[in-house]
Amino acid sequence: MISKETIEQVIARNDIEDLIGSYVTLKRAGSNLKGLCPFHSEKTPSFTVYPQDNSFYCFGCGAGGDAITFIRKRENLDYPDAVEFLANRAGITIVRDESKGSYSPTPKYDRAKMLKMNVDAAKYFHSCLFSDNPDARAALDYFVNKRGLSVATIKHFGLGFAPNSFDVFSKYMLNKGYTYDELVAGFLCGRSEKGKYYDAFRNRVMFPIIDASGNVIAFGGRVMDDSKPKYKNSSDTPVFKKSRNLFALNFARLTCQEAMILCEGYMDVIAMHSAGFTNAVATLGTAITSEQARMMSRYTKKVIISYDADEAGQKAAMRATKMLTDVGLEVTILKVPGAKDPDEYIKANGAEKFKALLESSKSRFDYNMDNILAKHDISVPAERIKALHSLEKLISETYSAAERDIYIRVVATNLDIDAKSIKSDVDRLIRAAAYNRRKEESEKIKQNTVGYSDRVNPDYIKAPAVAKHEENVLGFLLLFEEHRKKVFEGGLLSEDDFFTDLSKRVFSYLFDCYQRGEDYNINLNDSFSADEVGRIIKMRLSRMAMTDNGDTVLLEAIESLRLSVRKNASKTNQSLEALRELLNNKRETKNKENTNEQR
Ligand code: UTP
Ligand code: MN
Repeated sequence: MISKETIEQVIARNDIEDLIGSYVTLKRAGSNLKGLCPFHSEKTPSFTVYPQDNSFYCFGCGAGGDAITFIRKRENLDYPDAVEFLANRAGITIVRDESKGSYSPTPKYDRAKMLKMNVDAAKYFHSCLFSDNPDARAALDYFVNKRGLSVATIKHFGLGFAPNSFDVFSKYMLNKGYTYDELVAGFLCGRSEKGKYYDAFRNRVMFPIIDASGNVIAFGGRVMDDSKPKYKNSSDTPVFKKSRNLFALNFARLTCQEAMILCEGYMDVIAMHSAGFTNAVATLGTAITSEQARMMSRYTKKVIISYDADEAGQKAAMRATKMLTDVGLEVTILKVPGAKDPDEYIKANGAEKFKALLESSKSRFDYNMDNILAKHDISVPAERIKALHSLEKLISETYSAAERDIYIRVVATNLDIDAKSIKSDVDRLIRAAAYNRRKEESEKIKQNTVGYSDRVNPDYIKAPAVAKHEENVLGFLLLFEEHRKKVFEGGLLSEDDFFTDLSKRVFSYLFDCYQRGEDYNINLNDSFSADEVGRIIKMRLSRMAMTDNGDTVLLEAIESLRLSVRKNASKTNQSLEALRELLNNKRETKNKENTNEQR
């Protein structure tokens, strides 16, 4: 058990608006905040944060709870780990008891030591690159001659070389005072099934990954030939989350106020920085995440996406465009002509040419329009219509009406078609898309809450009417201390008055808390799954939306619950009877058949 004081502190020190705001773009809506739900995909915000009572709820998928529930779901952590995560975030040291399930003392790994370990590793790899043996010379030769990097650039990025050995690196680190446990947690060592430890990076050139505050948090290692995998990257560690960091942000943050260049590869970024474009960053071996997009929006206003020229790269660029415009960034796309990636282009054409490309990088619309126009011969009517339809669709996906107007005029001129008719087509497409979206979302809501499969309360479908009455009554109890007092002290209800397992549990949980004189919110996350907490929040919210929550309404609700439970029980008895009868009939027929066969 985590102490009540700890939970209270963790909740108090993690402002829910600020916490959720670091994952979700929130807009103020009255006294609440709204945003796109991080737990299901949606286009219109149904995710709401209620700062006053420190909770959130999504009307789309039913996720809800407090800061702890949010972290349980978002970071996929179990309850104790979620509490620890939030404690760390707020700079609170929490003390765990030894036995698992409860806790070990303070966080398992000392953050400062883990970071120091990474610096020592980076220094080691860097010095290996300049050491005097054939392997190291080959590595330096790879960087300098094969990839055209200057020694200054190598030093600037702290590039290195991991020796071709299973243990020289770990021996060195053990000597420096790090344990195997720490090396494995930091992804610098692996552990075989037989329990043997080995160096994670071997015979690879090394790229240290440094966060905005200058800490070495991870590594990428590249082979020097065509063997696979080309890169090996640190997985997430206690000090590293790949979805929340960017390569070279430590440098780019200084020069990216106006614009940032987003690349795919470490080598592209390095080439750009050494050619003077020091505002370039790259993701860490994954597609860009919304967390990275939000992070970028805190550093800059505009992002120029400069991905590989192949189809995969261009597709990824489109996805990144969406991710980045969604957080309010201006986005343009740059495609290098006649080269596979920006690195190759800069090496072949020089910085000046690349600068010109940067300046002519295009908006999503221009970029796509050029692609569409290049694909169709618009002097042929059928082709011209195809181009028109593609362009209309593209325009309909533009959020701002003013921008749409401009694009409509551009297309009208390009294809020599009346702007008015383009506009009416575009409006129709927008209406159709909005309709489909609403339909899709309401389908999802139906599937997630009630209906044939209720994941959270599987008993719901067995007796939906009863379950509804239960939730209504529980809503009263969740919302009002005075109603809890009345019901619990007057013995108005017992666990047996409830039918579904979840409602039974919620009732007896509230009862226990009441008897102990505890705020039921404190241990909610310990007693219920994150999804169940969401359902509980929903019960509370639905009742809150009602105007009359007085005694009479409560008593009526209890009465209706009793009635529906009784009705359901007799229905169940009836159907049990019917089932028995059916079985008996079957048995009789079977017996007859058997007797016939015997004859
Ligand atoms: P690229 O294959 O384009 O690599 O992958 P690159 O960095 O441009 O390297 P060069 O020019 O071929 O030397 C782009 C990025 O995708 C990730 C790495 O982050 C890489 O920088 N990646 C690629 C991996 O994580 N693993 C791989 O096996 C390949
Ligand atoms: Mn590349």
